[in-house]
Amino acid sequence: MNGKRERKATLLLADDERGTREVLAKFLRMQYDVTLAEDGEVALNLLDRNDYDIVLTDIRMPGADGFRILEKTLQKTSPPPCIMFTAYGSIETAVDAMRKGAFDFVTKPVNFDQLEIVIDRALEAKRIKQENHELKQRLDDKFGLKGIVGSSPAMRLVIDTVRQVAPSRSTVLIEGESGTGKELIAQAIHQLSGRQGKFVAVHCAALPENLLESELFGHERGAFTGAYDRKIGRFEMADNGTLFLDEIGEIPLSVQVKLLRVLETRSFERLGGGETLNTSARVVTATNRDLAQMVKDGTFREDLYYRLDVVRIDLPPLRERPDDIAPLVQHYLEYFANENGKPEMTITEGAMSALTSYSWHGNIRELKNCVERMVVLCRGKEIGIDNIPLNIREDLEPGIGKTIMTSGGCDLEQNEKLLIERALNESGGNRSKAAEKLGISRRTLHRKLHIYNID
Ligand SMILES: Nc1ncnc2c1ncn2[C@@H]1O[C@H](COP(=O)(O)OP(=O)(O)OP(=O)(O)O)[C@@H](O)[C@H]1O
Ligand SMILES: [Mg+2]
Repeated sequence: MNGKRERKATLLLADDERGTREVLAKFLRMQYDVTLAEDGEVALNLLDRNDYDIVLTDIRMPGADGFRILEKTLQKTSPPPCIMFTAYGSIETAVDAMRKGAFDFVTKPVNFDQLEIVIDRALEAKRIKQENHELKQRLDDKFGLKGIVGSSPAMRLVIDTVRQVAPSRSTVLIEGESGTGKELIAQAIHQLSGRQGKFVAVHCAALPENLLESELFGHERGAFTGAYDRKIGRFEMADNGTLFLDEIGEIPLSVQVKLLRVLETRSFERLGGGETLNTSARVVTATNRDLAQMVKDGTFREDLYYRLDVVRIDLPPLRERPDDIAPLVQHYLEYFANENGKPEMTITEGAMSALTSYSWHGNIRELKNCVERMVVLCRGKEIGIDNIPLNIREDLEPGIGKTIMTSGGCDLEQNEKLLIERALNESGGNRSKAAEKLGISRRTLHRKLHIYNID
């Protein structure tokens, strides 16, 4: 027996024969944390409420038999190995048990040595399974696609392109409206590229012309007034890694020329410096503007445009891939529910279908913020239509906001009446639920129904 295990493994032992149960328990308790069940029903209840490392069960028992226990065990989120006791000679039952997913069987009367070997093997199998699971999780993290939700045809195409292009050195241009996930995709390209260097992002619109230049290429001490020290630019920081130039459409023409030169020669100088530096940074750019149109208008250099547009990834707006909405809502619901210590939070079908039909002009960023807000503000455990922010409901159901404010001002009593009616409607006339939605007691609701003469 292996006495070095840190935590005692937990065993559920189900057998209706008292004698067998006690003898086995005495033996097993020398090493394991054993819970006993005197029949199938008790075992099922225990399985409902607890997790065990191993389940040992007799096959023939009153209440629920061993096969029911096996079935229940296999339904658990991470099913423990289930070992079954079979009567001596009943090989068919044993085969059946194995076929239905039992880890192994032990014939009765139980031989302790044999049982010990089987339990050790089961624990080892469980450990390996757990390790595999963790390994897979780490691979997913490394794969860089973990946080990307979306299985619409459009998103699948995006992900395929990401996978394909990541290992190459080509520049990638990501086009998409604000909040569609351009930066997330740029990061995924970097993670999948296997490049050893860093992912360095520059938000080009945020910097004035002169600062942008020194930000990108760095400068030497004394290069300009205020340059007290040498500064390492983002191109140098991203060496062997990925340089992500966000909002590339915003860079002034003068910087466009310099950028083109770096992309062509793979070399540059720090501002005010004579030394030519080589760079192996891979450049990924993003924009929410129509670069082709900007080229036509003469605000973006055509030669640079072609340099950047070697591989293009178009991120369609969320309203053009509605299939992704529900999975995204679900993903962020789980995320924010956990973050806010409300892990059981769910969403009603009605609310989900309302969110699915909304047009999400702010794309995934808007959706993510909306879900966070609903999770934080929801009083109960279920997000319903009335938890959806008013601007979204107004969009789906024009006029709904008018119950709150009209052009003529705000009639509080009228609003209160409307809100009560709406809460009643949404809870199918159930007064307790309506009161809960409104955040008032059932008694107060009752009084108000009387005052407003609501039936
Ligand atoms: N497919 C996706 N799955 C899950 N989350 C996503 C997805 N796409 C974007 N997000 C999330 O939405 C938010 C906005 O994404 P991101 O910042 O990448 O958008 P963007 O296109 O760069 O926006 P902007 O143009 O405004 O900079 C981020 O929090 C991001 O994690
Ligand atoms: Mg961005």
